[in-house]
Amino acid sequence: MKILVLGSGGREHAIVWKMKKDNGRDRVFALPGNGGISEDAECLTDGFSDPEEVARIASHLNIDLTVVGPEVPLSEGITDLFNRKGLKIFGPCRKGSALESSKLFAKEFMKKYGIPTADFIAVNSIEEAVSVLEKREFPCVIKYDGLAAGKGVQVSEDMKQAKEFLCKIYDYNIFGSENRTVVIEDCLKGTEMSYLVFTDTEGFVPMVPAKDYKRVFDGDIGPNTGGMGCYSPPPVFTPEIEKHIKERVVVPTLKGLQRENIDYRGVLYFGFMITEQGPFVLEYNVRFGDPETQVILPRMESNLTEIMEAVIERSLNKVKIRWSDKKSVCVILASGGYPGEYEKGKEIKGLNEAVKNEDVTLFHAGTIKKEDGRFMTSGGRVLGITTVDGSLTKAREKVYRAADIIEFEGKHYRKDIGDFQ
Ligand code: AMP
Ligand code: GLY
Repeated sequence: MKILVLGSGGREHAIVWKMKKDNGRDRVFALPGNGGISEDAECLTDGFSDPEEVARIASHLNIDLTVVGPEVPLSEGITDLFNRKGLKIFGPCRKGSALESSKLFAKEFMKKYGIPTADFIAVNSIEEAVSVLEKREFPCVIKYDGLAAGKGVQVSEDMKQAKEFLCKIYDYNIFGSENRTVVIEDCLKGTEMSYLVFTDTEGFVPMVPAKDYKRVFDGDIGPNTGGMGCYSPPPVFTPEIEKHIKERVVVPTLKGLQRENIDYRGVLYFGFMITEQGPFVLEYNVRFGDPETQVILPRMESNLTEIMEAVIERSLNKVKIRWSDKKSVCVILASGGYPGEYEKGKEIKGLNEAVKNEDVTLFHAGTIKKEDGRFMTSGGRVLGITTVDGSLTKAREKVYRAADIIEFEGKHYRKDIGDFQ
């Protein structure tokens, strides 16, 4: 079988790694991939192309299955295009992708279908936003409506912070789009958790839950990032919470999609805040999470490609996924300065020693491999170090020993992944 994986992050490396592990005979391509992925798959180009170009490449190579990692191609309608051309693709259609590409669409969808989420109001100008904020209590949350690569949300502590963020959106147009919509919502208190399911709109099969550490510094302080680490399963995920999530969130979401005539086939990711009043949805993502995928797939014992094919063929009701009972931990090594400005092109040393001495797997994100075999940094999140162990404590020890061994100038990482709920 020939598989094409789109994307270049740790998530895509974990997908490629799992496919090779499940069936070494498959030929896996990545577009564009990264330094680490190039050791497990054939990387096609060093640029990400538009959907038409990807479809042309997939047909030319006789690809049997294309798997979309990031949200942008999905929001551009790559799945609709592939379906029109009779090419097999894993990921939801453009209409379904609006659950992630428009915060307002997602919030109105949740309101319409009775799915618990923070109260909100939408505004279209800085004046309107300030007048709404004057009547609300701080902290409150400001969300840019469109895709913003993880930088579109601010938990504002006071009006000064809020105005600064609004000014960046409205006066400096940092997201570079015509879209002027912003959602202002209540700030929820509790424990965050990510819950991902495979769905074909009719039914769903859950994955094991994970906890992502979004803030850059230990103790959950500093700005939000794409995710500095993850572990699975988080203790907040009790059987009661699971039941609540399935009955009050997942099932109503799928019913809503059916009512809206949205043919959603792919991964649906629910970002939760587990509050004293129960789980509230913070966001939907229409793809695998990153770094969540780096702790979820190492616990999956079933064949990933077979599950994806069942989703596409709408036969998910026949699928039962087997999972390891063990714990998994992933720590992200980031470039100095990330999530702000950072330098690229730093040599990464100790990669072989880290895997020789420790039972860990390295998922590359922002890396490139030079012709002489050296790996260099090329992004903010550089590497995810993952392990699976019966004991969370032992798993943490292993990843942190490896995190010490790997070196590059400016390296930084959180020391408290898996430490607290
Ligand atoms: P989102 O992209 O909507 O998930 O927001 C990014 C991050 O902002 C979340 O992972 C939370 O840490 C935080 N956040 C978003 N919405 C809220 C909320 N209503 N209350 C508290 N924190 C939030
Ligand atoms: N880890 C958060 C995300 O994938 O959006």
